[in-house]
Amino acid sequence: MRIYDIIKNKRDKRELTTAEIEYFIENYTNGKIPDYQASALLMAIYFNKMNKRETLDLTKAMINSGDTVDLSRIQGVKVDKHSTGGVGDTVTLVVGPMVAACGVPFVKMSGRGLGHTGGTLDKLESIRGFRVELDEEEFIRNSNEINICICSQTANIAPADKKLYALRDVTATVEDLSLIASSVMSKKLAIGSNAIILDVKIGSGAFMKDLDDAIQLAKAMVDIGDGYGRETIAVLSNMDEPLGKAVGNALEVKEAIETLKGQGPEDLFELSLLLGSKLLVLANKVENEEEGKKMLIDAVESGAAYEKFKELVKYQGGDLNQIEDLNLLPKAEHVIEVRSKKEGYVKSLNAEEVGKCALMLGAGRENMESIIDYSAGIVLKKKVDDEVNKGDVLAEIHCNDIDMAKKVEEHLHEIYKIGAKNQEVKKLIYGLVTKDGTELY
Ligand code: URA
Ligand code: CA
Repeated sequence: MRIYDIIKNKRDKRELTTAEIEYFIENYTNGKIPDYQASALLMAIYFNKMNKRETLDLTKAMINSGDTVDLSRIQGVKVDKHSTGGVGDTVTLVVGPMVAACGVPFVKMSGRGLGHTGGTLDKLESIRGFRVELDEEEFIRNSNEINICICSQTANIAPADKKLYALRDVTATVEDLSLIASSVMSKKLAIGSNAIILDVKIGSGAFMKDLDDAIQLAKAMVDIGDGYGRETIAVLSNMDEPLGKAVGNALEVKEAIETLKGQGPEDLFELSLLLGSKLLVLANKVENEEEGKKMLIDAVESGAAYEKFKELVKYQGGDLNQIEDLNLLPKAEHVIEVRSKKEGYVKSLNAEEVGKCALMLGAGRENMESIIDYSAGIVLKKKVDDEVNKGDVLAEIHCNDIDMAKKVEEHLHEIYKIGAKNQEVKKLIYGLVTKDGTELY
């Protein structure tokens, strides 16, 4: 077999065989196929597409390029949750403790933030002493003892994807459905959970800017999961504006804890309840979503969900004092209020732009070497559809660099579009994609 022929086949719109796909992934991962030939093949795939079978084969080959994580030593039905990325998306920190408090193991290998999106590990590391690097023994023990563990990858997961993703990033071949879906799912499926729930984001802060594209991506990922024998469902949710109010690491930890106590922003709680109730159904804990929501609300009202978060922090070495007294979490030197110069209603609040503001303040990474300022970020006091009067506080800027705060303040004035009330009421949840079809709400 020759890579030249594989490139030519795809260039000429032919379906690649399983053997051809395996040959490509194996030999690209081990360095025998150079980047220029891999780039040519990626571009041919970009233009001529892959079908369902090819996409599943590509995913399998990428899984097989590295290690897999065996979760069979963890008791119960393990359900994984994954978001395609967003701004202020604190859902994992809310859903995890909630479902764990209901007796379902929440075992998650998370990532770090890059660019305008945040990462769960960075958020957790804003708690003093919190360890995300656990070995397999500790990860399994914690999961069995307290039903929850959130850590970084313990193994070499899908190295082919790492290499290919870096190449796609610089060759304008990221935006292909099969390539995105196989990339995401290879990393999910390499970890042996029993079922997967995907939160596919739509809007200005997401990969997919419109609903049709998001549905197609969700379908492609659900098909892969199903083809691999893993029950997979996808929720389609709004990322036109940030989720919740807090954007920034320590600020989001605080927001998650408040939500677990029943005092968080409504949108964050609603999405967490939906995803959490689906998780409980997938784990056979309840018959339906309604029962699941009730169980989760009980866990919040009884304090069990908050106690579970504290257990998570304790088991992973974090400082419990900072959880019990949220004022002890990293705090920025300056808190600047951004006050509205106009009156009306918030028409839009571009999530990606808010994410970039948080990044400018030091809440995120420009590259993998950047050092994060855990205290930095933005708290949105007004969100889309809220009424605003002149002088009202739109947002708070939390920062240690006052010059940067001034720039961000100007930028936020531009990002907050204020005018007449929107005709259409915003939607938080657009629908659901399962192997049986798409249901739009
Ligand atoms: N996230 C991934 O992991 N892969 C992609 O291709 C796009 C987003
Ligand atoms: Ca948030």
